Amino acid sequence: MSLPFLYVANWKMDFTHEQAISFCAQHVQDLQKMKSAQSEIVLCPSFTELDAVSNQIKNTSIQLGAQNCSRHRAGAFTGEISAQTLKKLGCSYCIVGHSERRQYHHESNIEIAAKVERLIEVGITPIICIGETAQEYENKQTKVILEQQLDLVFDVLNNFNNDAPIIPIAYEPVWSIGTGTIASQEYLAEIFQWLFKTVPTFTKGIEYRYLYGGSVNEKNASEIKQIPHISGFLIGSASRDFQKFKNIVS
Ligand code: PGA
Repeated sequence: MSLPFLYVANWKMDFTHEQAISFCAQHVQDLQKMKSAQSEIVLCPSFTELDAVSNQIKNTSIQLGAQNCSRHRAGAFTGEISAQTLKKLGCSYCIVGHSERRQYHHESNIEIAAKVERLIEVGITPIICIGETAQEYENKQTKVILEQQLDLVFDVLNNFNNDAPIIPIAYEPVWSIGTGTIASQEYLAEIFQWLFKTVPTFTKGIEYRYLYGGSVNEKNASEIKQIPHISGFLIGSASRDFQKFKNIVS
């Protein structure tokens, strides 16, 4: 049986506390109606709204995700949030390795792999983001870069084997994030075909699902959904506008 299509709303730091709460207060019932056997919806607010949103979506099948977590289990790491805490707050997913974290917080592939490990240990599914920069795209280095970004993650996943959840890999060309520029259908089809064939060869007993992210909106969503092996979206700006998000899901 094929998996439901995964819609991950990455609210980034764009909602204030009030906006996040009011989005849920107004739309949770509609989101619940939009959710079907063919779709799974995950809301990823900032850390500070996780608890409130968790309460607001209680008794629905909408799921909660965080945008990041600490690579450490616990200890003297001022300002960090542990995977264990995220679990307690009700997160079933957590985004890791988003390009904004790699770029502005200099997150390395080593750190990202450690975060994947912390999350799986506590029963949270990591949504692992990968993607090439515009320069790397121009230089036709995409596949090499994606392999480098995943290499240490595969080592971690191989320690879990059958105990790991189905792992979502979100391919987001960095040059498509927040820019309105989307790669051609042919290019995306080639990359997703390659991911689908290549990724499972590096691990044993791990299942994957593949998400696309980068300027997904209500106009391009149905076309991108047709690309083989894409079974979810990581959506930034369009996920904060309920009508746009709804149009993408339906
Ligand atoms: P965008 O963001 O949809 O605004 O391009 C996607 C992302 O950052 O995950």
